[in-house]
Amino acid sequence: MTLTQAEKAAVVTIWAKVATQADAIGAESLERLFCSYPATKTYFPHFDLSQGSAQLRGHGSKVMNAIGEAVKHIGDIRGALAKLSELHAYILRVDPVNFKLLSHCILCSVAAHYPTDFTPEVHAAWDKFLSSVSSVLTEKYR
Ligand code: HEM
Repeated sequence: MTLTQAEKAAVVTIWAKVATQADAIGAESLERLFCSYPATKTYFPHFDLSQGSAQLRGHGSKVMNAIGEAVKHIGDIRGALAKLSELHAYILRVDPVNFKLLSHCILCSVAAHYPTDFTPEVHAAWDKFLSSVSSVLTEKYR
């Protein structure tokens, strides 16, 4: 899935704003995930998943950091996330379907925080970008 130059530019532009609130958006995305799709909680039996917990906030921050790396290396997302891809496929064994759910929750959080910036074009570009991230993180499954 290749992003056009215009799509890459749209992702980089919205990310500049998202990065200023990345921790809050990361935590909110996980809260949305666990609330809307409770089965996803089974991957985190060792976490305190109550709203605003330190573990939830810490993990949200890690996820958004990884997304930031992917934005920074938007021409080589595969290279940027190689280690994470192995972790999710070989060690965590997260079912790929869950990536669509988390991507949707991140998309909702970004839209909720930046409603004016979240034009249909930005929505489409951000969606495609998150799909690329998910593809990279699930491509090692076989
Ligand atoms: C760990 C990113 C999707 C479950 C991690 C870590 C990062 C990350 C950065 C920490 C790695 C480390 O500590 O070295 C992402 C990104 C995703 C994604 C960018 C997609 C956009 C998912 C999904 C699930 C999941 C969909 C399951 C519903 C986990 C679990 C851990 C983890 C269980 C280990 C948590 C721990 O014990 O500390 N992920 N992840 N991830 N991820 Fe993901």
